[in-house]
Amino acid sequence: MADFTRKKNPPKISRPAKPSGRRQPPPGNGEALSGPLFMHTTLWDYPSQNYGGSKQGQTGFAGATPSYVIWNLLERYSRPGDLVVDPMAGSGTTLDVARDLGRKALAYDISPRRSDIFRADCRQLPLESAKAHLVFVDPPYSDHLDYSDDPRCIGKLSAAGDAYYLAMRDALREIHRVLRPGGILGLYVADSFVKGSGFYPIGFELFSIMRESFVPVDIVAVCRHNRNLNMGNYRRAAAEGNFFLRGFNYLFIMAKKPDGAGEPGTGGRLAGKAKEWQRGKKK
Ligand SMILES: C[S@@+](CC[C@H](N)C(=O)[O-])C[C@H]1O[C@@H](n2cnc3c(N)ncnc32)[C@H](O)[C@@H]1O
Repeated sequence: MADFTRKKNPPKISRPAKPSGRRQPPPGNGEALSGPLFMHTTLWDYPSQNYGGSKQGQTGFAGATPSYVIWNLLERYSRPGDLVVDPMAGSGTTLDVARDLGRKALAYDISPRRSDIFRADCRQLPLESAKAHLVFVDPPYSDHLDYSDDPRCIGKLSAAGDAYYLAMRDALREIHRVLRPGGILGLYVADSFVKGSGFYPIGFELFSIMRESFVPVDIVAVCRHNRNLNMGNYRRAAAEGNFFLRGFNYLFIMAKKPDGAGEPGTGGRLAGKAKEWQRGKKK
């Protein structure tokens, strides 16, 4: 297998799309916006969870992705008519944004909350290989939120152990399979700090898994508007415990290599761990 990462002159990933020129949400959603919509730098802040007058995804769904993030990604890296896939769709924000922008969209979740999201494990998607132009995924970040009772939910796995990363590696392999060569992956994730336990650099761990088979296109820091960040007791605990509350999410923008080569997580610290873990030697 070619070792792409060490080549002096890696093949260029063509930018899939130029911005369409539209800088406001499509008709029907349009309303005066109180802040930037089309992001120009690698530090993104969004004025509200949803753009325009309507909602994308479901209000109140814990862990919903801010729709501006998906809008900006799709606007830059896909074209009308392209197939956008979300393998962990939650409340369906990706579906709604993709439809607003005239993209085709398919969404899956282990515990679907809407009839237009198919029930499937993201590690085994009922989709042919090399079909998707763009995959957006906002996975669970460790086991902080209870998404469903399904034991296959990756949100039941703590980022303190290998099981979370092995599950995410399998999810990334499946994403790699369904993406067209040169297709784009947007992975939205945050690190984790657990009081009394420590810091888990989930972003960099997942980046190193993706690096085996994807080419980095860009890395964006997205300001978090999690209500906990402003709560006195959280702030006090962070000050007293000398740790930081998570103030940003990563948006890793990666491209499947044009020749489709590589497999996520074949090297690095996870190499060989899957069998060990399955035999119960490691937790
Ligand atoms: C952070 S939420 C996604 C939020 C979504 N982007 C939105 O805006 O609503 C993570 C989702 O991953 C789903 N999930 C967890 N494990 C899964 C698996 N093995 N296969 C498919 N979906 C899974 C959970 O059910 C949850 O809905």
